[in-house]
Amino acid sequence: MKLVGTWSYPTSIRFGAGRISEIGEACAAAGITKPLLVTDKGLADLPVTQTTLDLMEAAGLGRAMFSDVDPNPNEKNVAAGLAVYREGAFDGVIAFGGGSGLDLGKVLAFMAGQTRPLWDFEDIGDWWTRADPAGIHPVVAVPTTAGTGSEVGRAGVITNSESHEKKIIFHPRMLPLQVICDPELTVGMPKAITAGTGLDAFAHCVEAYCSPHYHPMSQGMALEGMRLVKEYLPRAYADGSDLEARAHMMSAAAMGATAFQKGLGAIHALSHPIGAHHHTHHGTTNAVCMPAVLQFNRPAVEDVLAQAAGYLGIEGGFDGFCAYVGGLNAELGIPRRLSDLDVRDPDIDTLVRDALNDPSTGGNPVEMTAENTRKLFEAVL
Ligand SMILES: [Fe+2]
Repeated sequence: MKLVGTWSYPTSIRFGAGRISEIGEACAAAGITKPLLVTDKGLADLPVTQTTLDLMEAAGLGRAMFSDVDPNPNEKNVAAGLAVYREGAFDGVIAFGGGSGLDLGKVLAFMAGQTRPLWDFEDIGDWWTRADPAGIHPVVAVPTTAGTGSEVGRAGVITNSESHEKKIIFHPRMLPLQVICDPELTVGMPKAITAGTGLDAFAHCVEAYCSPHYHPMSQGMALEGMRLVKEYLPRAYADGSDLEARAHMMSAAAMGATAFQKGLGAIHALSHPIGAHHHTHHGTTNAVCMPAVLQFNRPAVEDVLAQAAGYLGIEGGFDGFCAYVGGLNAELGIPRRLSDLDVRDPDIDTLVRDALNDPSTGGNPVEMTAENTRKLFEAVL
């Protein structure tokens, strides 16, 4: 089967190897004539980025780039990017990269024409209605990892540099108008990042699937997303140039992020504060947390995960699923404890407080309390 397609769900997606060549058409379709490419420092000088800038220039779009983005983008990165964006009178963003480049790019385009401060748009209740829709600029999203799925999401995660809390900035119109999913862009990802980002996609699928909210569309997508990860992440990890595996992982990432409209859960509730306070890799942190969270949620998810195991060809029901997850982590070089990710002297009180305040907490199938969340942290640290 040729792994190429043009999809309109949940947004316009040009999927297939080599389709970064359509960056000019994608900008035109999004109504962008003068884009600012937003990416992170690590990607700025890499060939995939330089080639994309060349393609932009050839399409008459210039080659402007902002890359002063920290691994966990914060409000200072947003302010610096907005200054560049407004000064240059850009009319749209090409959000390019992994989670940090995509999220910052989306938030910059969202903030382009807003007059209220960033934190007024945190994902709390109906705060998003405070935004002036006319001030939201269009985005073309181009993922270069296969994990976050932010290219199909309606939010951006920005860390508050003072409180070290990860805040979700949400607006329905933050969804990129055009996405280019070109698996060739992910071929150069190092093994550890392939594993960490791929397991982020897996965590999105597992948590969405286990969330108690009613959303059968998401349920189906999450299940098939898990299957793609099971089949293709070990292959992409073993051979980074396996383009078929890279393509299916890119789909799994977009599916996981689409599915988690149904909810996330304790894996992300734990991982967000750990990442914000200890600067660990998001997907790798999720992977370390998953085995303990599965046991924590066992009373609520034993049956549904047994069903998933059946679909995935895993024997042994819920216990078989847990054994599979442990084996996958080991195969992909994921450590068993957060201390192995250099999490030193954690302030558990603060981690518990931030986890309970995290928006993912509400999607966990077992209610999280100060007491059981502390125990959960102790189990993963
Ligand atoms: Fe995630």
